[in-house]
Amino acid sequence: MASKIFARKSINKLLQEAEGGHSDGHGGHTLKRTLSATNLIMLGIGAIIGTGIFVLTGSAAAQFAGPGLVLSFIIAGIGCAFAGLCYAEFASMIPIAGSAYTYGYATLGELVAWIIGWDLILEYMFGAATVAVGWSGYLVSFLRDLGINIPPMWWNAPGIELVQDPKSQAWLQITDQLTQSYASQGLNIVTLPHATGVFNLVAAGAILLVTVILVIGIQESAKFNNFIVFIKLFVVFAFVLAGGYFIFRNPELAADNWTPFVPENTGEFGHYGWSGILRAAGVIFFAYIGFDAVSTAAQEAKNPQRDMPIGILGSLVICTILYILVSGILTGLVDYRKLNVAEPIALGIEATGYSILTDLIKIGAVAGLGSVMLVLLLGQPRIFYSMSRDGLIPPFFGKIHPRFQTPYVSSILIGVVCAITAGALPIAQLGEMTSIGTLLAFVIVCGGVWYLRVKEPDRPRPFRTPLVPLVPILGIVVCLAMMAGLNIHTWYRLLGWLAIGLVVYFLYSRHHSKLNKNNNLPDAN
Ligand code: ALA
Repeated sequence: MASKIFARKSINKLLQEAEGGHSDGHGGHTLKRTLSATNLIMLGIGAIIGTGIFVLTGSAAAQFAGPGLVLSFIIAGIGCAFAGLCYAEFASMIPIAGSAYTYGYATLGELVAWIIGWDLILEYMFGAATVAVGWSGYLVSFLRDLGINIPPMWWNAPGIELVQDPKSQAWLQITDQLTQSYASQGLNIVTLPHATGVFNLVAAGAILLVTVILVIGIQESAKFNNFIVFIKLFVVFAFVLAGGYFIFRNPELAADNWTPFVPENTGEFGHYGWSGILRAAGVIFFAYIGFDAVSTAAQEAKNPQRDMPIGILGSLVICTILYILVSGILTGLVDYRKLNVAEPIALGIEATGYSILTDLIKIGAVAGLGSVMLVLLLGQPRIFYSMSRDGLIPPFFGKIHPRFQTPYVSSILIGVVCAITAGALPIAQLGEMTSIGTLLAFVIVCGGVWYLRVKEPDRPRPFRTPLVPLVPILGIVVCLAMMAGLNIHTWYRLLGWLAIGLVVYFLYSRHHSKLNKNNNLPDAN
């Protein structure tokens, strides 16, 4: 049995499958090498900028790091850079669909591949649900500006307690810090309007809409992606310039909000202080997810050896700089304790008084987050497709629609489950699950690069991660540290998720694996 669960899929076989296409009508992956370094950077930014910066920044500052959130963004950016370099090596060696799942199958064997595939559901499906909840916050806020009020119970997860801020009219989640912050202004929180979430219908509806789009096969074109990237960058630059100018004119307000830069720990791990900065790094790590999309385009890059690191690191560096500026300015504009809202970036702009920008930012966020949902929900069926082709999940997951040529069964299934998840769970839980799942995948990928360098040093690598094993080791260490910072309940959920995955593997996948049927020997090449 041990030989079976550690059976590896040969890289040559994977490449043959990619070149030759498949008999089920899904077509091959013989792609043209058309993408330049700039295209790759745009691709990365398109997938990266989303709910992480537009929404989670606020709650991470409010609950965990305060203005020290800037440091959390630096830590997460460094971890991603190391992991990104490892992804690039794999992507250039095995440039086909399936991402880390495929890399795992080729290097660490079937069981690890299964774990990664199962774990990637967290990145893609929970990620899409997180973005949908973020999207709902901005849409609702934009509609409120137009005079259309959606009751808070229908755009918040069940049980979330909210209070309406008398000044901004925004609905804020009730926390101890918020209660204290109002008390310090002489306001008793009990006297303000209250509401409790029932189900986030708006987020669930968004997921179902995107699912319909995916099933009928409207995929993002490069032109559309560039347009969305432009909108997102416009929104972020507008915020940085307007907020930066306001702070320049009102330095005393910002100095007040930035002090203390690292609020004192409350005595509980992760609540302010240095542990809070680490915890916030794990949470806002979500904001960086998506650069691995660049690595999946390795087969389409004109010059992968040179351009993959430029694409990955270029998009990461640009986003890291923007994120540092945004988080610094946001915590300068608004008291961090008041940032636990659905649309913190818009709240920040409101604080500057440049109200014309507020609606532009909300429209930009709604459009920009929509494209991130699309990318994530497009990725999940591709992974299921690879897993069903390998026999690890039932064949209907790989079923292609005869007319639309899309993996409609898995898209619809994922869409429905994702919509329910988005409606039922709060953004903090969803975001942390996505982060921990993705971080685990990064750890395995970093380990895999190192392992394969030792096992198969001579295999051609169009892109080589520099300084192996140092870079993979640092990637593992920083990612594990961010995982360690996350809530203990997130850990329990991850372990529960993996336990369910193992049960599925041993009850179903192991017996249906095509690799085990065709080939009982652990295959190295
Ligand atoms: N990085 C993406 C976001 O923040 C997933 O929405």
